[in-house]
Amino acid sequence: MPVTDLFSSDSDEQHHSDAVAQVIKKEMRSAGGSIDFARFMELALYAPGLGYYSAGRRKFGAGGDFITAPEMGPAFARCIARQCRQVLWELGKGDLLEVGAGSGALAAGVLSALAETGPLPEYYFILELSAELRTRQAEYLAQTVPHLAQRVRWLDHLPPHGFYGVVIANELLDAIPTQRFRWNSGGPQLLHVASEHDHFCWRDVPAPDALAAVLSARMRPSARVSGYSSEVNLRAEAWIQSIAETIEAGLVLVIDYGFPRAEFYHPDRSSGTLMCHYRHHAHGDPLVLVGLQDITAHVEFTAIAEAGRGSGLSVLGYTSQAAFLLATGLTEQAGNLAQDDVKAHLQLAQEIKKLTLPHEMGELFKVMALGRGLQGPLSGFTLQDRRARL
Ligand SMILES: C[S@@+](CC[C@H](N)C(=O)[O-])C[C@H]1O[C@@H](n2cnc3c(N)ncnc32)[C@H](O)[C@@H]1O
Repeated sequence: MPVTDLFSSDSDEQHHSDAVAQVIKKEMRSAGGSIDFARFMELALYAPGLGYYSAGRRKFGAGGDFITAPEMGPAFARCIARQCRQVLWELGKGDLLEVGAGSGALAAGVLSALAETGPLPEYYFILELSAELRTRQAEYLAQTVPHLAQRVRWLDHLPPHGFYGVVIANELLDAIPTQRFRWNSGGPQLLHVASEHDHFCWRDVPAPDALAAVLSARMRPSARVSGYSSEVNLRAEAWIQSIAETIEAGLVLVIDYGFPRAEFYHPDRSSGTLMCHYRHHAHGDPLVLVGLQDITAHVEFTAIAEAGRGSGLSVLGYTSQAAFLLATGLTEQAGNLAQDDVKAHLQLAQEIKKLTLPHEMGELFKVMALGRGLQGPLSGFTLQDRRARL
């Protein structure tokens, strides 16, 4: 069944999607007929009050469109807290900063775990683009961790240089608008989006020389063939550079689905990594259900590592989510549950499976740590470190 059949055409959703489409078409007209895909994705996801992340529709969890690791239960947050704890101890002080905090579940879980063991950060900052999600996060934190909520502060932009602590970016980079390209006999073409007969469609535009040079350097000849299409997310790289300027000492922990460059631009991955989610259906067409569906692309981790190194951060670890979580005590969490609490044990077992099994989130999701001013090896990468594959 096509994903568009999942919603009825006279519904509120249709009206909402039409309103988002109008905003996009208006911009296309003033741009001369088309806009580049990154701008299309930005408007579809973040147009103020209308975009997928900016409007009121439920996105996360069973009643939404997709489930992220912090939404499955508290186990993921406890592991992240353990890595944060090591850094906060080593620095002797510090804050946490979560960028793109979704429902607020990770913030609540990390703060609760640190409240049990110490040290608590002075502040847990949240930088969130969506005003609607900020409100939800504040409500969620006030309900679930009222005694810790006063440590949470929302920021409008990244703090200036001088940040000590850990920046957490879980499933953030995949949501940063990406450029798309398609190779043809004339070289790489940048994919634009236009509107024809009231439907959005793709349009090829010659890639600017600088972008063509980047792609030629990053892709091997066997992938640079007619018809090969993929993504390149220069904004995600710029985001890493901005974070590097912020951090005086500490870590940025990137958790997301993706691959090193050789796998990302593998000749066999010839239609890229773009994915859309609508009511737990995953598909590959970002030009439909505009404003109603999530649009994401996998992360090219080699580019992220290079952006970090180029801005003075060291790549302190890179591994699979499974290896990271097992190294930060995922399975030990059962020891903290009451022995006769069968339900809690079953829930934890379920969560562990989803987070670590290779065909669930365990292998596709990776964790990368970029840092400055830290000495010891990070606990999350002691089981396995894949930096050599970047
Ligand atoms: C896929 S969701 C992940 C949410 C959450 N981290 C989780 O794992 O459940 C992406 C989040 O990033 C936010 N976001 C995207 N780009 C951002 C940016 N440049 N700065 C701050 N937040 C951003 C979105 O509004 C959304 O909350």
